[in-house]
Order: sequence, then C-alpha cells, then structure tokens
Amino acid sequence: MTSKDIRDKYIKFFVDKGHKEIAPAKLVPENDSSTLFTSSGMQPLVAYLLGENHPAGKRLVDSQPSFRAEDIEEVGDNRHTTFFEMLGNWSLGDYFKKDQLPWFWEFLTQELGLPKEQLYVSIFEGNDSVPKDMESYEIWKSLGVAEDHIYAYGVEKNWWSRSGPPSKMPAGEIGGPDSEVFYKFTQIGHDLQYGDKCHPNCNCGKFLEIGNSVFIQYQKQADGSLKELPNKNVDFGGGLERLTAVILNEPDIFRIDLFSEIISTVEEHTGKRYTEVQSQSPMQVIADHIKAAVFLIINDVRPSNKLQGYILRRLLRRSALKIHQLGGGLTPLPGIRAIAESVLIIYDGLLGIDRGRQRGIVGEVVTNEINKFGDSLDRGLKHVEKIKTIDGKITFDLYQTFGFPYEVTEELFRQKGQQINKEQFKTEFEKHRELSRTASSGMFKGGLADHSEIVTKYHTATHLLHQALRDVLGPQVFQKGSNITSERLRFDFSYDQKMTDEEIKKTEDIINQRIKEDLKVDKKIVAPEAAKKMNAIGLFDEKYGTEVSIYGVGPNYVLDSQAKDQRERAGYYSLEFCGGPHVEHTGVIGKINRGTILQGKIKITKEEAISAGIRRIRAQIVLK
Ligand code: SER
Repeated sequence: MTSKDIRDKYIKFFVDKGHKEIAPAKLVPENDSSTLFTSSGMQPLVAYLLGENHPAGKRLVDSQPSFRAEDIEEVGDNRHTTFFEMLGNWSLGDYFKKDQLPWFWEFLTQELGLPKEQLYVSIFEGNDSVPKDMESYEIWKSLGVAEDHIYAYGVEKNWWSRSGPPSKMPAGEIGGPDSEVFYKFTQIGHDLQYGDKCHPNCNCGKFLEIGNSVFIQYQKQADGSLKELPNKNVDFGGGLERLTAVILNEPDIFRIDLFSEIISTVEEHTGKRYTEVQSQSPMQVIADHIKAAVFLIINDVRPSNKLQGYILRRLLRRSALKIHQLGGGLTPLPGIRAIAESVLIIYDGLLGIDRGRQRGIVGEVVTNEINKFGDSLDRGLKHVEKIKTIDGKITFDLYQTFGFPYEVTEELFRQKGQQINKEQFKTEFEKHRELSRTASSGMFKGGLADHSEIVTKYHTATHLLHQALRDVLGPQVFQKGSNITSERLRFDFSYDQKMTDEEIKKTEDIINQRIKEDLKVDKKIVAPEAAKKMNAIGLFDEKYGTEVSIYGVGPNYVLDSQAKDQRERAGYYSLEFCGGPHVEHTGVIGKINRGTILQGKIKITKEEAISAGIRRIRAQIVLK
C-alpha cells in the first residue's frame, strides 16, 4: 500500500460515513495574524468548532499540508518532520466519542489491516477541572483493546489545544482531552536511556503515535476557568507519513515513498549512504527541510529576514551547511536543486504541486538564496575555525557578515562542543537593530518595526488601546497580534462583532483621557506566576522562563465603575506581559514635535474583521 492508497482510503472511508471532503487550507494562512503557518487541520476550522455553521455541513474530512516551525529542532530522528500531511476528520457538534473511536479503529484494523496486538491507545487521566475520560476507556475496551494496552496520561500528553495544556491556553482558545493510538514496532528493543520502562509515549522509537482524536469541548475563559462549548466537537488528526511507515512495519518514516527519492538524491550528491549517517541525522534534516522549503516556495514565500521568509531562509541555509559537511561540495547548489526537483517529482499533481509549471520558480528561488549564502559559507566556516571562544558578538557577526542564521551558528558550535548564549546574541542584535534596519519582528516577536521614539509612543498607546477595548467591550477582548511602524499602530483582537461608532468613540476618549492624565509607566520583573496573580494580561501561551517583564500604566489608578473589565491589576490602569520599550509617562504620546510642540491625540482610523472572531484596528497620532 502506498501513501496515495492510504490517503484515498481514508478520505473514502469517512465520505462513506457521511463526511464531505473539503479543500485543504493554504499552508500560509491569509488573514490570520495569530500564526505564520497552517500547522494542523483544525486551524482553518476554529470558527466552526466555536459554533458557526460550515457550508459543507457538520461532518468534514480532508488531508491538510501542515508546517510546524516549532519542530525544526526535533527533526533528525525516525519520526519528526516540519512539513507533513495531516489526515483529518471533524464532527462539528454532531457525532462524538462513541462513533469516532470505533471508526478510527475500524479504519486501522480493517481498511489498513494493522494487527490489533501491536496497537496501543491512551486516554486523559483527568485533572482538577476535567474528569478522567472513562467513556473513551470503556469504548476502547468494548472494541477488544486489552486493558494493558490502554494508558492514561495527564494534560502534557492527552490534552490538545493549539497552545498546549490548559495553563498555556489564552482566553478564548478551544481544546479538550484527547485519545491517541500508537503502533508498537516489535523488532525494536527499548532504549534504557529513555527510562526504565517503555510505554506508548516513550521517546525511544519503539512506539509511534499514528492518530489523535481530540474532543474539543472547552473554551478557556479570561478568569482562567474552562467553559463547556455549546457543541461537543471531534477533531481528529493523523500523520499520513507515519501511517504509511506503519503499514510497511518500517520504524523510519524517511524510508517511505514520500521520502525515498529525496534521500537517494541526497546520497547521490553527497557520496554518502543514508545507512552510514542515519544515526547522526543530517540526511533526515536535509530531506525534511528541502521538502518544506519547496512547499513554502510554491506558497509564495520568499527568503528574507522576516516572518515566513526567515523560516524559509533557515531551512535552505541549514540544508546547505549539512550538504556541505556531508561532502556535497563547497557550493551545495547542484545538490539542493536536485533535491528540490525530487520533491516536485514525488508530489507532482498533489497538494498544489505542478512540476512543469513550478520547477522554474523553485529552481530560481533556491539558486538565488544558495548563491547568496554560498559566497559566504566558506569564508564563514574558515572564520569559525579560527575562533576559540564564541560569544554573542561573534554570533552576531556571523549573522550579519556571513548570513549564518543564529541556529546554524549554534549548531556549528554544538558540533565543536561549545554552547552559545542566545541572550548575548539578542543583545548584540538589539544594539544593531536601529542601525541596520534589517531586524525581523518575526524573529524575536514584539511586532515593533524599531525602537525609535515614535514607535515607542505607539507601543504604549497599544497597551492603552488593549485595556480601553476591554473596558468598552468586555474581557473577551484579547490581543491576537500587533504591528507598529512609525506611521501607525495596528492591533488585532478577539471580538466577534463590528464595533459601533459609539464604541469606537468611547475607546478613543478613554485612551486620550489616559494620555491627558500623564500616567507613569512602570516596568517590573517578576515570576510568571506572580504576574498572573497580579492579573497582568498577555500572551499566556508563550514559554516563559523564571522571570518575565510586565509593564504597568498608571499606578494607584482608580478603576472606572462603568468599565466592563473590572479586574484589579495590582492597582494599575493597564498591566501587561511585555518586553517593552515604553514611554515613561503617557503624556508624551500626545506631543507632536513640529519645531514647536503641538498637541495631538489618538484616532482610530480603521476597524475591520480579518477572520472569524478577530478584528483589526489601525490608529494614528493626529493633531488635535
Ligand atoms: N488538532 C489535533 C492535532 O493537531 C488533531 O487533529 O494533533
């Protein structure tokens, strides 16, 4: 059975069960400021999981090309990739566990003919707010799954939302407990370095997760609680590459038909055999990264120092370095072009790939980028050879002078047995940011074009806007994105209706009042837990370290009794998780320097929907 057979069988199986096949979403989402890439099948369906009617009905199925930039560092074993195809089926408030689990079981054991004794399942073990999923447990048992093949895990493994476990879900985010299925490779022994006992979620490679049924039935609230959604939904996702490997009883997904041509092309251009270098993983990284790069290119991403473009640049440059290190020549271009071509051959006619039409542009983009990098690769590597101790400045020089993405340098020194400090690199980066203007907001988040005076003013104004919107519209308003230039601020937030003129006016008035009051802005460094206790708002799904910085505007502020968001924020008018920078007093936001100082105010110039449940505001400082 090929990957194509499995994809076709899956779609047909669920169509026969009353599902409509829907077209997959674009890999680079349009109008969704909350994410750079489509990373799961449910992502384009969030509005419908929240209760909107989907035009194709309540039962949907598709195969969604997905890209997970956050998994770049995971690539290099038998099962992780950044790009993959996710087979998905959904119930939008229609069927639930009693149908979903038996159907998937039937698909695995009857359609694909997998041996039951090699299949294991997991269920949610429960926590303080959500009980143990005994219903799934009983269903699995009734299907003949032996008790010792059913494992219960906590939120880290058996809870799914786009931001992880409940504690990481921002207000408004949906998710729920899930039930996974794993395949056991009996030919592999357990590797004791991963723990005394092997189990389905062990990382030794003996078990492979092949499908996840998520029961999306909760929404995180601003007060931290979980509220039941009006609909109980099923969101199933299974990796096509993994299912194909399992059918072949092949523990390494890089040996299936969706990779074999790529791997043999890498072998040809490096003169190394996959089996020789398999345990060091460079070929897996090259194969994954160039495949992902091709899909980004056909989705109109171009290498740059920003956002999606920066990810594409990293994928291509990291591959170039690895090919070079495997002996693929100082200019790894012919190798990279041939590998990209092998991706087009494998997928021709699938997932938007049209080899005849696209090979020109793929070749051109790859050639330009690798030529740019190739010139400096050799000089950069020679430079690295001479360095004894690496510090942030040298890492930054390698980035600026030789075009080595930070991660590439980090990897080189890891190979040399040196660890480098990302904070130092960031400090250098920040110092040069103002001068070079090549900085990428996507790299270090924050959404600021630079740290100039005007951008800083707009940044503080954005905090005032965030809180003012919550005062006027209510605490369901939550930041979804922000982008600030010296001309304007742009702010995306969760809210599902058009704002009325009166609400817009009220919001402007509150901000301008806070500017007039010339409130002090304080910065505090505290533990993340303390910040949450103080009711600081912000992006809770970020992975915080032991300390976070929060900015408070207006200490000892007497909260407005009319405001819809009445939470105490440690006495501040606004309190947010934020890396800064901010003005010291809000009064300066309203001062416009035209030779003499003129008085200005914040004006909302546009309010519009950018996707279901997300609105966007643009605002400017204008003369009063
Ligand atoms: N959304 C779930 C996942 O990505 C299942 O589709 O794993």
